[in-house]
Amino acid sequence: MIARRNSHHWLPFTQMQQFDPTHTFVRGVGNDLYDAQGRRLFDAVSSIWTTVHGHGHPRIVAAIARQAALLDHATALGATNPVAEALAERLCALLGMEAALFAGDGASAIEAALKIALQFWQNVGQPQRRRFVHLDGSYHGDTVGAMSVSDIARFKARFAAITFEARSYDDPAAFADDVAAVVVEPRVQAAAGMRLIPERCYAALRGIAPLIVVDEIATGFGRTGTMFAHAGLDLQPDIVAVGKGLTGGALALSATVVTARVYHAFLGADDSLRHLFHGHSYAGNPIACAAALASLDAFEEEATLDRVAGIARRAEARIGELRVHPAIAAVRAAGTMIGIELEPAYFEGGAAVTPGWQVARGLYARGHFTRPIGNVVQLVPPLASRDEEIDAFFDALLAELER
Ligand SMILES: Cc1ncc(COP(=O)(O)O)c(C=O)c1O
Repeated sequence: MIARRNSHHWLPFTQMQQFDPTHTFVRGVGNDLYDAQGRRLFDAVSSIWTTVHGHGHPRIVAAIARQAALLDHATALGATNPVAEALAERLCALLGMEAALFAGDGASAIEAALKIALQFWQNVGQPQRRRFVHLDGSYHGDTVGAMSVSDIARFKARFAAITFEARSYDDPAAFADDVAAVVVEPRVQAAAGMRLIPERCYAALRGIAPLIVVDEIATGFGRTGTMFAHAGLDLQPDIVAVGKGLTGGALALSATVVTARVYHAFLGADDSLRHLFHGHSYAGNPIACAAALASLDAFEEEATLDRVAGIARRAEARIGELRVHPAIAAVRAAGTMIGIELEPAYFEGGAAVTPGWQVARGLYARGHFTRPIGNVVQLVPPLASRDEEIDAFFDALLAELER
């Protein structure tokens, strides 16, 4: 299908010549999206791991409206606002950390984490520490620094001219004394097709990683069953990046949260030039921060994390059916982050689209919106999903595989 000539919206990671313009979302209610044709679709991918309590959660909508009328925006360069203050305090309390720097997208939080690590080592007199180590299969976003510590060749190979060299965790020479930080996703690498990382990988970092950056952008805010996925891992982060679900999925907001050790290295007299040389125009935007506070309130008042356990149990019961299906090569799950890997041999060769897209398009027609990662079909439902919705997704997937 050829995109409408009158569409001027260039979609990320989308071949516009093949784009189906009927995929136009006009409304979101609870766990569903509505397209321009009036079709109702279960948001089975939480709009790429952002939506937490469902779309248009009344508490979040009201907080946004209230804050927009009071103070829409004021710069965080040399000034603060009460909502950003409250959110920073709340995030630090949740993470056991000292200070939060705000940005918009997840990749921006990672860029800040890398620059904080570099400047930290300069401020403490070890400027030679300027290399980064990442896990195999990592993905931390699409800006230059985030891409550099990512390991998915398909996304970054064509931009080699502007990325810097980073080292794989599996390289025995990785942890030389020029390392600034190791950057890890906790438990699950979502963009690698819900790849699960064994716990021993994290324990092995103890004592050898000069600073540990934990990327909770995809996994944070309940997705794997705990508020943050690194809880319970033998891992003491120095810097944590959060984004996506921070506002419950309503607005772009991310944060780079650091320990007292890191933060204190940036303090000094004005002319010491120790302060952080990094920031964005919309850092600490009050409307986004108000949405985030409302989302955190919803976690407490609606016992959202208990719901995650229920979804995971329901999904696990159905995953058994998939594991024995000839069209399925593997199923990986961490809480509500579920990757269903298709067996390509089961699908007709020569089709115009990959098995992943064949199944995703079939699911769309059956009222379920997801996006494949290669041949991995994702189910990452909003944390407010009900058992019936999870069952309906598996029913639709099994019906589609029979087709
Ligand atoms: C683990 C991880 N880190 C960082 C990012 C980048 O976040 P954003 O797309 O908001 O820039 C993503 C996005 O999917 C992610 O999964």
